Amino acid sequence: MKNNSTSNIQHSTLNIVWHNGYVKRADRNRLNKHKSGLIWFTGLSASGKSTIAHLVEKKLHEQGIRTYVLDGDNVRHGLNVDLGFSREDRKENLRRIVEVCKLMVDAGLVVLTAFISPYNEDRAYVRSKLNDDYIEIYVKCSVEECERRDPKGLYKKARAGIIKNYTGISAPYEVPDNPDLVIDTEHCDPEKAAVLVLEFLKSRDFLRFRN
Ligand code: ADX
Repeated sequence: MKNNSTSNIQHSTLNIVWHNGYVKRADRNRLNKHKSGLIWFTGLSASGKSTIAHLVEKKLHEQGIRTYVLDGDNVRHGLNVDLGFSREDRKENLRRIVEVCKLMVDAGLVVLTAFISPYNEDRAYVRSKLNDDYIEIYVKCSVEECERRDPKGLYKKARAGIIKNYTGISAPYEVPDNPDLVIDTEHCDPEKAAVLVLEFLKSRDFLRFRN
């Protein structure tokens, strides 16, 4: 079902009703002894989103926190295998991801995501769906540096015109207006970046469950 093709269908015509379980999110958060939430990393390809997200996950896991990382390339292998990189497809990519994130947050997890998510409109949509359960981290790195790193050789292909609509080369990346945290990976190694994220989460008391 591509491009949200059910969007014109009313729930009443589908005969579906939301079913509430006996065990609620708060019960899961209480059992886990921490709040669940979404930590959203945005930035260019090769900026360091995935590396930092996985390092933060490891450190949180070591503290007994239940986590999961959702990564752009991985999600596009399965759930979003039918989507490309047009404006419309990127929007649908994130729409589905947000629904998955909401379920995971309800399941009690701290979800860390690594999607380019280049458009302000789409990131605002994610925030609007998660509200206080959302933290946006801009992983800042210039196109020049990302292109120099080019771990997958995709910038090279984009420059050669083999890949179209490549973010930073032939498609836009809109710098976040008001991220909760900025990590500059041209001046900070991944280990230090992960520590900065953890310190930030602590300063916000983001993971503390209040009864
Ligand atoms: S997003 O823009 O829709 O948020 P997403 O994070 O899911 O992107 O996927 C980005 C990954 O797909 C990149 O890290 C890169 O490996 C790969 N990719 C392939 N084609 C493109 C493209 N045209 N633009 C950006 N990334 C691409």
